[in-house]
Amino acid sequence: MQNSVTVIAPVNIAVIKYWGKRNEQLILPINDSLSVTLSTADLCSKTTITADPSYEENKIVLNGKEENFDNERITRCVEMIKHRALESESCSKELLAYKIHVDSENNFPTAAGLASSASGYACLVYALAQLYGLKKQEISDIARMGSGSACRSIYGGFVQWQKGVQLDGKDSIAVQIAPASHWPDLHVLILVVNDSKKKVGSTSGMARSVLTSELIKYRVEKCVPQRIHSITQAIKDRDFSKFAEITMKDSNQFHAICLDTYPPCVYMNDVSHAIVNFVHEFNRNEGETKVAYTFDAGPNACLYLPEKYVKRVLAFFNHVLPNDNQNSVEYLRGTPVDIDEETEFSQYTPYERNALKYIIHTKVGDGPSIVD
Ligand code: DP6
Repeated sequence: MQNSVTVIAPVNIAVIKYWGKRNEQLILPINDSLSVTLSTADLCSKTTITADPSYEENKIVLNGKEENFDNERITRCVEMIKHRALESESCSKELLAYKIHVDSENNFPTAAGLASSASGYACLVYALAQLYGLKKQEISDIARMGSGSACRSIYGGFVQWQKGVQLDGKDSIAVQIAPASHWPDLHVLILVVNDSKKKVGSTSGMARSVLTSELIKYRVEKCVPQRIHSITQAIKDRDFSKFAEITMKDSNQFHAICLDTYPPCVYMNDVSHAIVNFVHEFNRNEGETKVAYTFDAGPNACLYLPEKYVKRVLAFFNHVLPNDNQNSVEYLRGTPVDIDEETEFSQYTPYERNALKYIIHTKVGDGPSIVD
C-alpha cells in the first residue's frame, strides 16, 4: 500500500476571466472562463501527502509554516476526495481512516506576487487523488471547492471551466480545449510590478461586484459566451491576432467591472496602464499584433506572445528592472539576454528603473504530475 505521494501542479492565467459566483459555498461561477496553464518548470506548487496509522492528527505545512488544517476550504477538499474514494472503492477503507500530513511549497518566490491558490489547491487535490486512487477526470469539481480557478490547473494547455447549470455543481468542471503541445510557439512573460499596496482579495472583490456592478450582468449575458466560442476557435487555429484581441478586451472589461463595483476594486496601477500602452503601441508599429496582455486581481501583467517577439519585448522590459537583468529568469538561470540600453521603444518608456521587480519567462505547460 502506498502511503506517501509527491506531486507538482501548475499555475494558470485566465484569458477569459472568472469573476463572480452564483453559489459562494460550492464555488459555482456566473460565467465560463478559459485559461492557459503555465509550465511547471518555471512556476509550480509541490505537495507531499503522507497517510500513516501512527499520526494522531491531520497537519498542513505551507511554505514551511504550519497552518490550520481545519480551514473550511482545505477540509472540504479532503472530505470530498475521501468520500469519492469510498464510493468508488478506489482504495482501502483502512488507508482512508489514517490521518494525513501535508507539506506544500511553491517553486516561485512569494515576492513574485503571484496568486498561488490555483496551483496550491490543484496540487493538494491531485495529490490526494493519487494517494486514494482517483482519476484526473474525477477531481476538477473538488479542486474548484478549494479555489475556483484551481479547477483549471488540473489540466495542461488551454482549459475551459464550464460554469455548469446544476445546483449541486457536479457539471461545473474544467475541460481541456487543447494540450500544451498544440501551440509551442506561444510564450508567456509575467511582469511583476513593484507594488506594496494591499488589494481586495478575489473572493471578496468578486462578491462585491456581483452585488453592486451593473456591467457584470451585461458581460455575463452578452459578452462571455461569444468570447469563449471565438477564443476557442482562435486557439484551435493558432490565430494569435484573434487570441490576443479577445484576451486584451476581456482583461479590460474585467477591470472595468472592478471599477464599476461599489466601492471600486482598483487592481491596476500606473505601471500596469503603461504596460497596456506599450503593448498597443508595439502592436500598432508594423501593423501586426505581436503581444497580448492580461491582468488578474493585481497590478502584474501577464503577456502572451509568439516566440519571434520575445527578445524585443524582453529587451524593453529588462530596461526597467532594478538592475540590468538581475531579476529576470534568464539572468537567474545564468543566461542573460543580450540587451541594448537604448531599446527601439525607449521613446515610449514611461518607466523608471524599479518599475518592475521581476520578470518570469515561461511557456504553456502540462497539468499536474507525480514527482519520483
Ligand atoms: C481574477 O479562484 O482566486 O484570477 O474562487 O474565491 O478562490 P475563489 O477566487 P479565485 O479567483 C480568481 C480570479 C481571477 C480570474 C481568473 O483566474 O479567472
